[in-house]
Amino acid sequence: MKILVLNGPNLNLLGQREPNIYGSESLTDIENILLKEFPDIEIIFKQSNSESEIIIWIGESKDTYNGILINPAAFTHTSLGIYDALKAVETTIPAIEVHLSNTHKREEIRHKSLTAGACLGQIMGFHGYGYILGMHALLKTIN
Ligand code: DQA
Repeated sequence: MKILVLNGPNLNLLGQREPNIYGSESLTDIENILLKEFPDIEIIFKQSNSESEIIIWIGESKDTYNGILINPAAFTHTSLGIYDALKAVETTIPAIEVHLSNTHKREEIRHKSLTAGACLGQIMGFHGYGYILGMHALLKTIN
């Protein structure tokens, strides 16, 4: 079982970035927690500030991964390209969207996700723990 965990722009700054909103864990902390919680799963953890790089990774995932856990970060609210990429692979690779913050409690521009419509579901508001919840949901769906 091989899962791709994708992280969008500015998530490389987690831990320092608005910890009251996103939590105090760094992205590496979250990666290490996932690796510890799911020792039998091959987890490939990636982050990019580039929309095109994320689209390429999704497109290439088809023959390699069993599922995608994705936090598209700001691209959630803007990227039809990431939506289309997830749609292109969704029949073979299901995706779950995760957010550290509850975007519905925040500015209106964050209330809409363009990408969630290409995912099985969405988990938000639990900081890094949402990645664990998302992984459980993904594995349950795949198995
Ligand atoms: C985020 C929410 C987005 O609105 C924001 O742009 C992010 C992080 C979250 O995980 O809460 O960068 O995806």
